[in-house]
Amino acid sequence: MSKNVSRRGFLEKAAGVAAGAAVIGEFPHLNLGFGTGSPAGLPMVLVSGGKTWASNAAWEVLKDGGDALDAVHAGAMAAEVYPSDTSVGVGGLPNEEGVVQLDCTIMDGKSMQCGAVGCIEGIEHPSSVARAVMEHTDHCMIVGHYATEFAVKMGHQVTDISDEASRSWYRRWVARRSDTDDWLSEEESAIKMKRPLPPSERGRRQRELEHTYGTINVLAVDVNGQVAGCTTTSGLSGKIPGRCGDSPIVGAGLYVLRDVGAAGFTGRGEEVIRICGSFTVCEMMRRGMSPTEAGREAIRRMVEETNDGNANFSDNAVAINAKGEHGSFTVSGRINYTIHNPDGQQRIQR
Ligand code: GLY
Repeated sequence: MSKNVSRRGFLEKAAGVAAGAAVIGEFPHLNLGFGTGSPAGLPMVLVSGGKTWASNAAWEVLKDGGDALDAVHAGAMAAEVYPSDTSVGVGGLPNEEGVVQLDCTIMDGKSMQCGAVGCIEGIEHPSSVARAVMEHTDHCMIVGHYATEFAVKMGHQVTDISDEASRSWYRRWVARRSDTDDWLSEEESAIKMKRPLPPSERGRRQRELEHTYGTINVLAVDVNGQVAGCTTTSGLSGKIPGRCGDSPIVGAGLYVLRDVGAAGFTGRGEEVIRICGSFTVCEMMRRGMSPTEAGREAIRRMVEETNDGNANFSDNAVAINAKGEHGSFTVSGRINYTIHNPDGQQRIQR
């Protein structure tokens, strides 16, 4: 799911809070959840957004009794090479130097093992490399050019994963960018860190830029009640090279708990990292909350505890539990996910 988000607007909101305008406890978006407590049966896959091609690929594995881990991997791979999808894999949107850097985590509830890659370049399937980190190393995460080198050792080809659409986006973005985007001025840093404002840069103008946080979460429960998940993305468009969002961080953009469930996030990764988003959702489900209630608690922390009641950014939690109940909670106001179970495929949009 993508959403234009202005960091400048976010910081201006933060400035309002610094001036004492917090609305803790009154944030209206804490009603923006949806889910069902009536399981349609197992197996089941949930995919964030309307990426039906990913849920179809995962369902092909699950419907014949396949493993949840294989299913989420198949779903992620389908998204990574889907031609018109600019949020993940091939054709993902580039960083501020025009290079597509991909982030991914995969996690298996049965073994409670996980693997991740951050800022990997030139590899079509970061999900396969993340899975190789999990299955063929004693590590959880490999980043940067080392991730690409690891992928090559595992048999992957290095290719140009930009396409005409992503190169065209980059040309437009460069034409509109300021030289300080994603880099904080003294004033912005003071606002962020809740320090007194220095007079030097007050009032400095900056053009707003188009940003997207395209990401896909694929979560599955197989017929045996085993749970797995994969989150894959090209991350924040126009990001500082080397910036990792939440997607390659286990517990942030993805988490899975054996016999409990799985959760993933899309949207502004920095907010998700600060609340350990997916871990929080899974932990709340372990304590008895439904997927929707657990998502709400994570979003509540994000808004009330780490942003003083402000939420001028977009984030969405999706979750499933081991019984096949599913739900989502959002800051953006739009619930949008796809499920596939024995009753067929259903797009949930609110
Ligand atoms: N959630 C994706 C990112 O922030 O990169």
